[in-house]
Amino acid sequence: MIAQFASNDPIEFARAAKLISPWVNGVDLNCGCPQSWAIKEGLGCHLIMDADKVAAMVVAAKQALGPTKSVSVKIRIHKNIDETIAFVKKVQAVGVDFVTVHARLRSQRSSTPPDLAALKVIKSHFPDLPMLANGDVNTVADAERTVEITGVEGVMTARELLINPALFAGFDSTPRDAVEKFVAYAAATGLRFELVQHHVNEMLTKMTTKKERRALMNARDLVEVIDWLDTRWEVQKYRIPS
Ligand SMILES: Cc1cc2nc3c(=O)[nH]c(=O)nc-3n(C[C@H](O)[C@H](O)[C@H](O)COP(=O)(O)O)c2cc1C
Repeated sequence: MIAQFASNDPIEFARAAKLISPWVNGVDLNCGCPQSWAIKEGLGCHLIMDADKVAAMVVAAKQALGPTKSVSVKIRIHKNIDETIAFVKKVQAVGVDFVTVHARLRSQRSSTPPDLAALKVIKSHFPDLPMLANGDVNTVADAERTVEITGVEGVMTARELLINPALFAGFDSTPRDAVEKFVAYAAATGLRFELVQHHVNEMLTKMTTKKERRALMNARDLVEVIDWLDTRWEVQKYRIPS
């Protein structure tokens, strides 16, 4: 369990890391967000242009957390991959535990395929640093193919995991059990209703039409969501697993 922060300040990042440390195995620094507001504030992928700052943030967080928790960074690639290699060398030198590489430029949208050839070159410079690939890993086969092409140690995925949180357990679409567990946790923890609605909507993307999900999106509370699910599935077991 890794908590990610957007920050550009070593002291703030270290303090945040310390505060959250009892509940996580490590912290990650977001150096990949391409949104203009983030870049304007010197956050997200703005930081891939400032390796010294990121190195200082890694040092500060490592000092705050000690040796039992990881400190990692997630980056996008530069147009000139020598710059990415130089960036990763700097953070490796100060003890970053792993690096996740979203193999797109900061200007590229998710409709552009990730540049796995570039990632392969980058990874070849860092045989001793664990690296995760990110971008368009939507199935277990995609994960295996990405690892095979690039030589990285693992993959991270985002959009598909929202649709199918059981992806890494080998499921091609969201098993009903996962939706039921999510609703049970949501009820037990009082998760904000809009988030419940949003995530159930995502998880049912492949099993229902947009029109069918309109009733879900029109639901006003958790009871109406459960009623809607009940009309689709006859048996329910909204129990928190022990
Ligand atoms: C709604 C949304 C929110 C995201 N938020 C973050 C974020 O907070 N931090 C981050 O590093 N990347 C964030 N990303 C980018 C993803 O982590 C990932 O790099 C990108 O979607 C490509 O991976 P994918 O093809 O598996 O989705 C977000 C993406 C989406 C769609």
